[in-house]
Amino acid sequence: MADLRTRYLGLELHSPLVASSSPLTGSLDGLRRLEAAGVGAVVLPSLFEEELAAEAPRPGAGHGDQAGYGAGPAAYLALVEQATQTLSIPVIASLNGSSRGGWVRHAARLEEAGADALELNIYYVSSRPGLSGGEVEGHYLDVVREVRRAIGIPLAVKLSPYFSSLANLAGQLVEAGANGLVLFNRFYQPDIDIEALQVLAALELSSSAELRLPLRWIAILHRRWGISLAASTGVHTATDVVKVLLAGADVAMMTSALLHNGPDHLRPVEMGLRDWMDRHRYETIDQLRGQLSQRSVPDPAAFERANYIKTLASRTAPRR
Ligand SMILES: Cc1cc2nc3c(=O)[nH]c(=O)nc-3n(C[C@H](O)[C@H](O)[C@H](O)COP(=O)(O)O)c2cc1C
Repeated sequence: MADLRTRYLGLELHSPLVASSSPLTGSLDGLRRLEAAGVGAVVLPSLFEEELAAEAPRPGAGHGDQAGYGAGPAAYLALVEQATQTLSIPVIASLNGSSRGGWVRHAARLEEAGADALELNIYYVSSRPGLSGGEVEGHYLDVVREVRRAIGIPLAVKLSPYFSSLANLAGQLVEAGANGLVLFNRFYQPDIDIEALQVLAALELSSSAELRLPLRWIAILHRRWGISLAASTGVHTATDVVKVLLAGADVAMMTSALLHNGPDHLRPVEMGLRDWMDRHRYETIDQLRGQLSQRSVPDPAAFERANYIKTLASRTAPRR
C-alpha cells in the first residue's frame, strides 16, 4: 500500500491532503470531521488584522467551539488551544493583514496557544495610483520579517498570483523568513446585478480548471531555496492532487471541494491517489514529488511563455 507521508514546513504529515483556511476549519466539530476523513493537516480560518485592532472581546467570545470570521482573538486562541489538544494532526493558524502594526504581536500568542505553524495571508488591494508595486512588496516583506522575529514556529506565506515578478518576490519572502509558500489564495471579485443596479459580493467556489495557475508556479518554484510549497486553488480530485505533487508541491490544499462535498470527500480523493500511485508503481510521495517540475521536464519552456505561439496555433478555427 502506498505510503502517503509528506513533510510540510518541517512537520510530518501522514497525508498530503490539507484542508485550507475556510469556515469548515473554524469549529472543533468541523476539524474533527476532517481528521476522521483522513486529512493530513488543517489550516484554521484567518484571524483578521481588523479584528485585532479592535481587540474588544465580543460577548460570548472565547468558548472556542466556533472561531468563525469576526469572533475575535479570544475565541480564536481558544480554538487553537482546543484543536491542538484534541487533534493528532498538525494545526496551522492563519493571520490576515497587510500593514505593519501591533497586530503582528498576536503571532506570538498563536504560538503560545500551541499552533504547530503559522500561515500569513497577506492581502491588500492597492488602488492608489501613487503606490508602486515595489512599495507594496516592501510592506509585505516588513510584515513577514516582523512576524518571523515574533515566533519560533514555521511560517508559511499565502500569496495572491497578482505580482509582476513572483519568483523574485518569493525569493525575498524566503530571505525575510518564510519557510513555505501557499500558492495561491483566491479572491472574491465583486459582480454587478444589472437589474437591481447594485454591486454584489459574489462568492463562487473554484473548479479544477483553475488548477493551472498554481500548477505552473509550483513547477517553477520547486526546489528553489529548499522551502515547502502548498498548492491552493482548484484542487478538487485525485487527478488534481497527483498533478500538483508531480509539479513539486509538498501538500495539496482544498477548500471549495470540501465546502461543496463535505469532509468525506477526502476519502475518494485519497483512494484515487493511492490507486494512481499503485498503477504507476510509486511507493512514496517523495518518489513522485517534482517529477514534472520545471527542472525535471525535457522542455522547461513549457512552463513559461516560449511555446505560447505553438499552443495558440494548435487551436484551429472551427470548420463550418
Ligand atoms: C468561504 C471561504 C472562506 C475562506 N476564508 C479564508 C481565510 O480566512 N483565510 C485564507 O487564507 N483563505 C481563505 N479562503 C481561501 C481558501 O483557503 C483557498 O485558498 C481558496 O478557496 C482556493 O482554494 P480552493 O480552490 O480549494 O477553494 C476562504 C475560501 C472560502 C471559499
